[in-house]
Amino acid sequence: MSIEIPAGLTELLQGYTVEVLRQRPADLVEFAVQYFTRLRETKSQDGAGSGIPAKSGGKGVMFDGEPMQTESNGDDEEDDDSDSDFEPPPPSRYNRRVSVCAEAFNPDDEEEDTEPRVVHPKTDEQRCRLQEACRDILLFKTLEQEQFSEVLDAMFELRVQPDEHVIDQGDDGDNFYVIERGIFDIVVQKDGAGCCVGQYDNKGSFGELALMYNTPRAATIVAKEEGALWGMDRATFRRLILKANAKKRRMYEVFVDSVPLLKSLELSERMKIVDVLGARTFQDGERMIKQGDKAECFYIVESGEVKIMIKSKTKAAQHDNAEVEVTRCSRGQYFGELALVTNKPRAASAYAVGEVKCLVMDIQAFERLLGPCKEIMKRNISHYEEQLVALFGSSMDLRD
Ligand code: CMP
Ligand code: CMP
Repeated sequence: MSIEIPAGLTELLQGYTVEVLRQRPADLVEFAVQYFTRLRETKSQDGAGSGIPAKSGGKGVMFDGEPMQTESNGDDEEDDDSDSDFEPPPPSRYNRRVSVCAEAFNPDDEEEDTEPRVVHPKTDEQRCRLQEACRDILLFKTLEQEQFSEVLDAMFELRVQPDEHVIDQGDDGDNFYVIERGIFDIVVQKDGAGCCVGQYDNKGSFGELALMYNTPRAATIVAKEEGALWGMDRATFRRLILKANAKKRRMYEVFVDSVPLLKSLELSERMKIVDVLGARTFQDGERMIKQGDKAECFYIVESGEVKIMIKSKTKAAQHDNAEVEVTRCSRGQYFGELALVTNKPRAASAYAVGEVKCLVMDIQAFERLLGPCKEIMKRNISHYEEQLVALFGSSMDLRD
C-alpha cells in the first residue's frame, strides 16, 4: 500500500522543526500551538497560500508573537533591519539541546545568510559590559564589524552560582559562552575520574568545540564562585563564527603549514589550530608582552618584526629598570610560549618593530592543541639560557 504525503506537509513540519531546534522550547506542545496559530494568522493576512513558512524573503512565524521577516542579503530587501530581527526568549542552559544528527551547514554557502538575526535587547550599561568582555575574545578577532555587531546583538546575559556546571562533558552543545567575571574550572574525565586541566580567571570564552565540530562537550565547566557570562545560541555561533573560520582557513592554511614549529602536526591538527587563532595587529613600539606578567597567550609572527627585551641583571641597570635586546622574531617564528610551558611569569618583554601582525592562541587552546610541540619548545629553553649567559655572564632560572 502506498501512502501519499500531502503536498506541503514536509515543508510545514520542517519549518516547525527548525524553529524548535533554534528555540529549544521547554514545552513542545505549547510551542506548536503558538507556532501554528501564528502561521494561520500570517496565512490569513497574506490571503491564500500554502501556509508554509517561506525560506527566504517571505514571511515565516516566530515564537514571541511577532510576524518574522526572514532576512535576505538581496538588494531588493527593505532597509529596515528591525523587521528581520528576531527576539527569542533568553535561552536557558537547563534546556539541554537535543541531538541534531543531520544538521547541515556549509560555511561557504551564501544561502545561510538568509537566516533571521537573533536579537536580545540590551541597555547601554549591559552593552558596555558585553563589549568589554568581548574585547579580547580571539574567535571574534577575525569577524567583520557587521558580523561582530550581530554577535553582540545575539548574546544574552547569564548569572552563575558557585559549583554550578555551566557545561557537562558529553552533553550536546547548546551555547557558546564569554566570561564577564568569575573563575571557572575546566574538568576533563580521565580514567573515570574528573581531572582539572585548567581554569578561566575572569576572562576568556568556552564552549566553542561542540558547536564547531558537532561533537559532544569535551569538558565540564564548573563555576568556582558567583559569576557572570554572556551566551550565544548554537545557530548564531555556527552561522557567524563558522563562516569566519572558513575564511580564516583559506587565509592562513598556507602560512600555518610553513611554520616550522607546527610541521610535526597532522593537517587536521593544524586546521584546528587555525580555527581557534585570532589575528592581532600591533603598532610600532607597542608592548606585546610585559616581563613578569601572568601569561595568557602565545604568538606566531605573521608579518613584521618583534623585539624581545629583558631587564638587565647588572645592579646599575636594574636600578633604572633598563632592558637589553635579546633577540628578534620574524615571520613564521613564535614567542610567548615559555611562560605557558613553565607555568612561570613572562621571562622577557616583547615589542613591535614597525607594524606587526600576529596570530594569537589562548592558553587553553595552547594546552589542548600544542601538547605534541611542547618537547620542541622545551628544547629551545637551553638556547634562551645560552643567549642570557652571552649577554649577562649568567643565565636566569627559566625552567619549571
Ligand atoms: P566544548 O567541548 O564545546 O565544551 C567544553 C569546553 O571546554 C570546550 O568546548 C572548550 O571551549 C573548553 N576547554 C578548555 N580546555 C579544554 C580542554 N583541555 N579539553 C576540552 N575542552 C576544553
Ligand atoms: P615568555 O616568557 O612567555 O614571554 C617572553 C618571551 O620571550 C618568552 O616566552 C620567549 O618566547 C621569548 N624569548 C626569546 N628569547 C628569550 C630569552 N633568551 N629568554 C627568555 N625569553 C626569551
